[in-house]
Amino acid sequence: MEALKLKSGDRWLSVAPMMDWTDRHCRHFHGLIAPDALLFTEMVTAEAIIHGDRDRLLAQAPETIAAGRCVALQLGGSDPDRLARATELAAGYGYAEINLNVGCPSDRVQSGRFGACLMAEPDLVADCMRAIAAATSLPATVKCRIGIDDMDEEEGLDTFIDRVAQAGVDVFYLHARKAWLQGLSPKENREIPPLNYDRAERLARRRPDLEISLNGGLDDVSRIIGLRDRFDGVMLGRSAYRTPMILGELSAAVKGTTTPSRLSVANAMADYADARTAEGVPLHSITRHMLGLYHGQRGARVWRRHLGEEARNRTDGGALIREVAAACERMATSIAA
Ligand SMILES: Cc1cc2nc3c(=O)[nH]c(=O)nc-3n(C[C@H](O)[C@H](O)[C@H](O)COP(=O)(O)O)c2cc1C
Repeated sequence: MEALKLKSGDRWLSVAPMMDWTDRHCRHFHGLIAPDALLFTEMVTAEAIIHGDRDRLLAQAPETIAAGRCVALQLGGSDPDRLARATELAAGYGYAEINLNVGCPSDRVQSGRFGACLMAEPDLVADCMRAIAAATSLPATVKCRIGIDDMDEEEGLDTFIDRVAQAGVDVFYLHARKAWLQGLSPKENREIPPLNYDRAERLARRRPDLEISLNGGLDDVSRIIGLRDRFDGVMLGRSAYRTPMILGELSAAVKGTTTPSRLSVANAMADYADARTAEGVPLHSITRHMLGLYHGQRGARVWRRHLGEEARNRTDGGALIREVAAACERMATSIAA
């Protein structure tokens, strides 16, 4: 399968890699709302790709591919040869970019000596990236933090980026807070270390030759628009998941695209669910990603409750999605009338 070629500017908006969240169903949903966003997979370890069920781990939804969405595959690992092998094995699954996770702080990941702890090993990351780049013609990119533990946020980050850039990497997604590797859960590590956009901006100014996307805490359209000219792109994680229409609002504000209606997104997802459930995918594993679609609307509670509670019991494809979306639309119009 021919991979899509990312062009300059295509990374202006991306949806962050999120384990257990950004699976192929979720990516299809986000792609309907923001067709021009770069969508990340969950992190997949190199070892899982080498030893595991590759189709299950890597296959994308045919509708996502047919629609021409750009999807980046995020790898976890720190052995250059294994990462190169995993990259080779991922060829043909239609990804547009291969990304290395240098930001995840979980104990499991640390014990495998990858994720955020690699910020302390820029030379190893550079070797990994050389190996990945040699194994693919796709862009090889890095997602990292601004530091870990007591690493100097100025010098340490500059050294890390410069060494990795020397290996040919020119695209970085920067979660603009440190990871504290001892004593915090991964969730706390996404909330407690303070965000430092200024530090990220200093990096972007010092290295204008690199493409830097800002990540962390971006959940407000006007704030994001205000930050946009300081970075090459913005990456949204939790806000995209919990309030997905923010992606459409951003696309509309920045690119002048028409935001698709909630109803059209819901109906397209119902068609998608018809196809997937016919293949044996449980409806719930699709609808669980869609609970935020009506966030902030009159029907939000009805949507969340019915979709959340009834999806496990239904065996008629995407009909539930169509029914609840129609009910939410009726609520909106009866109030407007
Ligand atoms: C449930 C969840 C899972 C995550 N899994 C990953 C992951 O697999 N790889 C990664 O690089 N970051 C992961 N992250 C971190 C996000 O990619 C992102 O950097 C972080 O949430 C900060 O962005 P946000 O404030 O926009 O959510 C995860 C975050 C969440 C909430």
